[in-house]
Order: sequence, then structure tokens, then C-alpha cells
Amino acid sequence: MLVHAIPTNVNYEFAAEVRDGLTREAQKELPSKYLYDDVGSALFEVISHLPEYGLTRADERLLRRHAGEIVDRVQGPVAVAELGSGSGRKTRWLLEAFCRRQRVSYYPVEISHSALVMCERELSDIDAISIVGFEREYLDGLLEVAAYRKPGQYLCVLFLGSTIGNFDRTAGVKFLSEVRCILRPGDSLLLGTDLEKSSSQLLRAYDDELGVTAAFNLNLLARINRELGADFDLAGFQHVARVNEEERSVEMHLLSKRPQVVSVPGAEVVVEFREGETIWTESSHKYSVDEICATAQQAGFRCEVQWMDDQWPFAENLLVAE
Ligand code: AVI
Repeated sequence: MLVHAIPTNVNYEFAAEVRDGLTREAQKELPSKYLYDDVGSALFEVISHLPEYGLTRADERLLRRHAGEIVDRVQGPVAVAELGSGSGRKTRWLLEAFCRRQRVSYYPVEISHSALVMCERELSDIDAISIVGFEREYLDGLLEVAAYRKPGQYLCVLFLGSTIGNFDRTAGVKFLSEVRCILRPGDSLLLGTDLEKSSSQLLRAYDDELGVTAAFNLNLLARINRELGADFDLAGFQHVARVNEEERSVEMHLLSKRPQVVSVPGAEVVVEFREGETIWTESSHKYSVDEICATAQQAGFRCEVQWMDDQWPFAENLLVAE
């Protein structure tokens, strides 16, 4: 696979965002994208197999069951871009269906190099596919993919796994509008969204019995220790999942079990924690099916079809750029 990579100042950016997030006057915060280094990505892969966390399996089931119908609804000839491909496992069903119709160029866009490599390993055996990976942030990568478009070719963008839920609602509309700006009328966006469910189901899913989600969350502190030379004592922090009824989201926090001082030399900062104070690391917003269509419309898309899973409240939404 050809991979377009650019040298980045990831460490510098990481240090700046850690400094900014940990020196907030009120709620300390770290961006959830930093949960996904190699260890975090591997832990997320395990989460996707946990009995309590049905999201990824629902996404895969819908793609497997409806791949043919989805492809029939997408205008061709088409090139397929995927924002945040991960291992590529769940995309196989769709790509195989597309490739039965025509030869397909597939452009995974990922900030993780190891995920791009895994994705190519997983999918390169499909007949009639060519894979070009973009090691980029989502919108930067999509802009480059759009520049690769051949005359008369449509783009189908995949944004699966309810990653949209990790944006707050306002940022979600803004992101979809930015995707729409890069697309042309008739192009499509397949959006996977986790739907509203009971608080008890959410708490089980985001604070599993085995402690894998806790390890996934705590790994962020371990990553700051590894990459920025910090001295976080992981035993001094506890993973907490909280339902936010007003935002219709579930939040992950890291709670300081005692008063403590942590130094982060790579971010040139020393941080004090009160007992019970938390670092907010992720929000996962849950949607209603009607709200998804309204959100899509606000962003310049028409909601063409929605497929719902029968075992876990989750929807696959085919949106068409107007
Ligand atoms: C990737 N994202 C959609 C997952 C979610 O459910 O918000 C990440 C995750 N966090 C904890 N468990 C899974």
C-alpha cells in the first residue's frame, strides 16, 4: 500500500494540549484523540469484543447485513474514503460489495500509522481494490482524497463506529458541514451512530467488569509518562464513567484518589490535584434517529436511508450531499 505520511510535530502538539488541558482553572481535560496510541488502540480493539460494549458488533452486523443495499444506493462510479479506518475489519463487507460492481480505489484516512498498516493487511486480498492510505487528520486527508478524484467519479465517505459521538453536538454539525464542503452534490456519507439507551446499559458499556475500559482510560496517563516524562502514579487515579443526562452522553473521567502533585517535564508544567478532582478524557454522545436526519440536513445532506440494529440501539445512516 502507498501511504502518504508527512512529518508532524505530534509530540509538540501533544505537549501543548496536555499543558493547556491540565492547567484549566475549572474542569481539567485531555482530548480523547490521545487515547489512541498503539497501546490504547489495542485496548480499544479488546473493548469492541466485550459483552457489555455492543457498539462495534452492531456496526459490523449492519454493514454485513446491508452491504448490498448500501452499495446499490450509492451513486457510481465511486471512490471510497474512510475517516478513521482502524483495523479495517468492519469495512470489508462494504468494500467487497463495491468491488463486485466495479474496481474500487479505497482511501483510509488515519492518524495512526500502525492502524493504516493493519488495515492494508486486512483488506488487500479483496479482488479489484487499490488502497492508498493517508496518515492525516480527517479533514486534511479528505481534502487530499478529493483532489485524487477522477472526472465523473463520485466519492463515498465512511465515518463509522459512532466516532461522531465523540464530538459534542455543535462540533458534530460543524464537522459534518466541513465534510460536506469538500464533497459535491450526489456524493455520499455513510455515518454510523450509537443511539440513546438506558443509563445502566451505558455505565456497563463504559465501565466494564474486566476493567479494560479503565485500562484504556488510564493508559492516557501512562502515555504522558512515556512520551512527556511525567510522573503520574497510575494507582493514584481511578477510571470513572458518568452519564450526563442533559447532554445525552456518557463521559469518561480519571479521578484523583488523593491530593497529589504531578510533574510533566515534556509539557513544562507541574499540576496539583485535589482529592476527588477529575480529568475529563472523553464524551460519547448518543443520538435519536430523527435527530440524525435533522443534523444531516443542517450540514447540507439529505438522509437517504437509515438501518437500525435489532440487538443494540445503533443506526447506519446513508446521507447524500445536496
Ligand atoms: C471510538 N468511540 C466511538 C468509542 C465510544 O464508544 O465513544 C470509544 C470508547 N470509549 C470507551 N469505550 C469506547
